[in-house]
Amino acid sequence: MGFNIAIDGPAGAGKSTIAKMIAKKLGYIYVDTGAMYRAMALYLLREKVSSAESEKISAKCKEADISIGYEDGEQVVFLNGENVNGLIRTEEVGNMASASSPNPDVRKKLVELQQKLAESADVVMDGRDIGTCVLPNAQVKVYLTADSRVRAERRYEELTAKGVSCDLDTIEKDIIERDRQDMTREISPLMQAEDATLVDSSYMTIDEVADEIIGLVSSWK
Ligand code: DC
Repeated sequence: MGFNIAIDGPAGAGKSTIAKMIAKKLGYIYVDTGAMYRAMALYLLREKVSSAESEKISAKCKEADISIGYEDGEQVVFLNGENVNGLIRTEEVGNMASASSPNPDVRKKLVELQQKLAESADVVMDGRDIGTCVLPNAQVKVYLTADSRVRAERRYEELTAKGVSCDLDTIEKDIIERDRQDMTREISPLMQAEDATLVDSSYMTIDEVADEIIGLVSSWK
């Protein structure tokens, strides 16, 4: 087993920014598991499956071959051989990912892929169930969270910088709904693993969060 760092937490807590930064600093591989659920969601949307049709999701998810690769140090996710990185960051795909990820067949398929990736390499993996379910033996586990208003503000700034007009209250409402969906599902809901360190990034800079996690890695070694 490689050295495994698991970072879980709600949408918008800064998991991917932090995980990417740590992976770069330590020379580890960054695995964004949300991107895999998003690629699966894109497939389901293309196949016109609705999030309420759980049997259809179970059948259809078997047709989706999801894999990841790396280009210039960035994770690229492939859906049946097609690079879908540019298509999975929309609200529509994110909402479908949250709605279809409770399906046990979807989870089984993607969790196996994630476990295989972590078997032989040093990885920083982020998601919702990494410390609790995917990598229960990870040497370092972090539960990264932030106040929902702060998370909404970060998302608002990101979108505004891209020239997308949006409304802060609507974004916060969406974030709270996504949290509820991810935390209350039956199979591997989002929660802090017993042995995870809680990091609240509401009033921390990205560097401060990264330094705290690297500190946990150093004290383990
Ligand atoms: O982190 P993200 O926003 O890209 O994730 C999209 C959705 O995928 C999230 O709302 C729930 C699901 N997901 C999951 O169930 N388990 C993971 N390990 C990662 C994401």
